[in-house]
Amino acid sequence: MFKLSERKTKHLLVFGDSENMCELKDESIHLIVTSPPYYNAPFDYPDLFKSYEEYIEKMRKVIKEIKRVLAQGRIVCVVCDDILIEGKKYPVVSDLTQIFLEEGFIYRDRIIWVKPEGYIRISRRSGVLLQHPYPMYFYPDNLQESILIFQKGKFNYNLIPKNIKEESKVDLEEYLQNKWYLNVWNITNVLPLNNRLEEGIAAFPIEIPYRLIKLFSYVGETVLDPFMGSGTTNKVAMMLGRNSVGYELDKELIDVVKEKLEVDKNYLFEKNYEVEIIIREDAKELRSYLSEKVDKYLKENGKGKSRKFIKR
Ligand SMILES: C[S@@+](CC[C@H](N)C(=O)[O-])C[C@H]1O[C@@H](n2cnc3c(N)ncnc32)[C@H](O)[C@@H]1O
Repeated sequence: MFKLSERKTKHLLVFGDSENMCELKDESIHLIVTSPPYYNAPFDYPDLFKSYEEYIEKMRKVIKEIKRVLAQGRIVCVVCDDILIEGKKYPVVSDLTQIFLEEGFIYRDRIIWVKPEGYIRISRRSGVLLQHPYPMYFYPDNLQESILIFQKGKFNYNLIPKNIKEESKVDLEEYLQNKWYLNVWNITNVLPLNNRLEEGIAAFPIEIPYRLIKLFSYVGETVLDPFMGSGTTNKVAMMLGRNSVGYELDKELIDVVKEKLEVDKNYLFEKNYEVEIIIREDAKELRSYLSEKVDKYLKENGKGKSRKFIKR
């Protein structure tokens, strides 16, 4: 799928809370591609936040910091979804949209990411109607997430040198063939295979940052993911000749990210990327704790095989 870039790139990975991105200068970032924690989603983040209000306030703090570091005219892409917990839906998509608007961003677009029908991860709510085939028992299964796209004011197209524009040209064959031009994208999610690198991380598939980075940044620019997880955005940025920055609260993910970005891999030739890792005092240890809770939840609810976070 990838045509690898030969450009030299730099990647800064900070383990710490992204409500403070003090390592970054104002307006130094050209694109943000991210997926925040899915509130307290039972399969990923049980009890991570004390309340929905606390979650929303944390998101507001990170969004303010995003506004500071993002260059004028540039784009933030947020992969997110409303979250169902014990039968109650939390309106994450509209609440995040509202915060971005309040913080002065332009709401540019919403793309619906549709996953294959065979794989419904959260729960098969539609079974309720099969058991009670009468009105008022309808709950649809969820096959989609939103990719919210916000912009920080107007972009000045004249600032980009001609050679950079040419080197970053969008491949129209790929664009047309894979229907990037629609606001519905059919993309297979990261499948829950055992022992995969992203086990217990709620990672998005590389196709998502791949499209967004190609559509909204130029080669040599810097892409940020303030909720880095396994480092998917950083990996794709590297492959596409963009620099990257990632912030991740959970220092238990260091080895996963290092493996994904092949930090310790020895090459026959000189590497064309540099990686700097900073572990701040405010980094936490989350994954073992969360995976134990998820495990317990799955067992209690008879939802099949438990998952474990694998320490690498
Ligand atoms: C949905 S996951 C991101 C997954 C990522 N897109 C990937 O492909 O691997 C969200 C991540 O945000 C991290 N996180 C939560 N709160 C954070 C904070 N305040 N600062 C930085 N990272 C945070 C979580 O530990 C989790 O790894």
